[in-house]
Amino acid sequence: MLEIKNLETGYGKKQVLFDVSMNISEGEIVGIIGPNGAGKSTILKAVSGILTIWNGDILFKGNSIKKNSIAENIKSGLTFAPQGNRVFDELTVKDNLDLGGYLLSKNELKDRIEQAFETFPILKKRSKQIAGKLSGGEQQMLALARALIPNPKLLLLDEPSLGLAPNLLNDVFEKFVDINKTFGVSMLIVEQKVNKIIKISDKIYSIKLGKVAFEGKPKELIGYKEKLKDLFL
Ligand SMILES: Nc1ncnc2c1ncn2[C@@H]1O[C@H](COP(=O)(O)OP(=O)(O)OP(=O)(O)O)[C@@H](O)[C@H]1O
Ligand SMILES: [Mg+2]
Repeated sequence: MLEIKNLETGYGKKQVLFDVSMNISEGEIVGIIGPNGAGKSTILKAVSGILTIWNGDILFKGNSIKKNSIAENIKSGLTFAPQGNRVFDELTVKDNLDLGGYLLSKNELKDRIEQAFETFPILKKRSKQIAGKLSGGEQQMLALARALIPNPKLLLLDEPSLGLAPNLLNDVFEKFVDINKTFGVSMLIVEQKVNKIIKISDKIYSIKLGKVAFEGKPKELIGYKEKLKDLFL
């Protein structure tokens, strides 16, 4: 589904990623972990089309997307929910969802929003409410629902648990599994909540200083406190 091949990129003259290769198969949930500043968000920005790629290639469904714009990627089934950028505070829940479907026809958008309300009943109840007045967990659901509006085949999520109360974490991670199973959406998720992400992932990559430091099955990490600590140093 997604093949990242020897990816190198950065900001201005500063190189951040060095020879990063990853594979996400159809239907998989893949987790990316690693310390702050390692380059995790940079990987998602490069894949989504926000950031220019210096070297290497990115294949989505077998085709190179390294020159694609963000809109071209959304049209081909790849959407991105960036770190910290949750919802448009001043807009209603419904307007937030509409924005997720700016590339869809009116009818498609209507169908997709109905589907979102089925998946997230709480958003239906609050559809006319200003998004800034939702709780943190509800905003998170809205951001997730908005990213799903274009009906993606692959969803990129950057730290979806950021700022969520511990009692909401399980709900959010269960929702990912639910969406993955129900709609067959593959997911590439950057996440600091290591214990949560290794429970729902088919594969884990750890990024350290812009390189892949570990690639493997979550079971290779569960219970290995020392190994995990090493990946975060
Ligand atoms: N817009 C930018 N301009 C210049 N440098 C940047 C920019 N964004 C990130 N960087 C730098 O690139 C490196 C990797 O940043 P990135 O955001 O990918 O890290 P991260 O692994 O997502 O970290 P965190 O866990 O804190 O979100 C850091 O050194 C950071 O300072
Ligand atoms: Mg980040």
